[in-house]
Amino acid sequence: MADPTPIVLWHGMGDTCCLVFSLGMFKTYLEKQIPGVYVLSLRIGNSAIEDLENGYFMYPNKQVETVCDVLAKDPKLQDGFNAIGFSQGSQFLRAVVQRCGHKVGPVKNLVTIGGQHQGVYGIPHCFALQHETCDYVRKLLNYAAYYSWVQKSLVQATYWHDPLDDATYKKSSEFLADINNERKINQTYVQNLNRLDHFIMVKFENDSIVQPKETEWFGFYAPGQAEEILSLQQSELYKMDRLGLKKMDEDGKLVFLSQPGDHLRFTEEWFTENILKRYLL
Ligand SMILES: *[C@@H]1O[C@H](CO)[C@@H](O)[C@H](O)[C@H]1NC(C)=O
Ligand SMILES: *[C@@H]1O[C@H](CO)[C@@H](O)[C@H](O)[C@H]1NC(C)=O
Repeated sequence: MADPTPIVLWHGMGDTCCLVFSLGMFKTYLEKQIPGVYVLSLRIGNSAIEDLENGYFMYPNKQVETVCDVLAKDPKLQDGFNAIGFSQGSQFLRAVVQRCGHKVGPVKNLVTIGGQHQGVYGIPHCFALQHETCDYVRKLLNYAAYYSWVQKSLVQATYWHDPLDDATYKKSSEFLADINNERKINQTYVQNLNRLDHFIMVKFENDSIVQPKETEWFGFYAPGQAEEILSLQQSELYKMDRLGLKKMDEDGKLVFLSQPGDHLRFTEEWFTENILKRYLL
């Protein structure tokens, strides 16, 4: 029997690759469920502390480039792998697929859990951290998300999406607007994303951390206000098919799953039945 398909994990903000009570535990769970599987939990930096800090302060375009390199060089991933992103790790892994999918082993399924594909507007509970960094982050975002130096030095600014000022977002968001093909259309992004077998998005119905929660399914506020939400299918991005998502949807490659409960709350049983057995085996 062939070896199981390897799995690459990218953690969320305020988390690290390997702590036993978070992603380390998830890795162990995968290894138990899929005997012999190779699981790479990405660590951004040279230590757990650096990994945590880089989740706030290392420019995502740089993080994505680093990860592209790591994946391209890993001999165990050459025949392809599945990728699972948590929270902000979701959009970062999607960026990896789009920007260097042609340079790394084929990515079969991309699973994003509580990702912010259309960015965020507001950080209600500041990712559950009552912490100085958190206040600093919130203040910076309110005042200066699109200043170039903030884009370069604060990760969350790069997926800040102000629906009241869509033009500035498109012009100045150096990460998210770029990977969503809002600034220009990069055909490499379209082609690489379309090479996936499935793009699975998990949304948390009672998410108190990601605003709006519909961003987890690629929805967002309609431009010009911050109440009415447009689903992916109602958005210009989809209708004009700038990123190829309409085609992927028509081909049955987009999978929308939802879970009751708050950010990243799911059980092993649920994951096993709905994702592992369907897409990871
Ligand atoms: C499109 O994306 C690829 C992969 O990231 C990059 O090499 C290329 O320069 C981009 N093209 C344009 C026109 O931006
Ligand atoms: C969770 O969200 C669902 C769907 O939006 C809603 O019907 C339900 O009342 C919410 N539950 C709680 C405890 O807020």
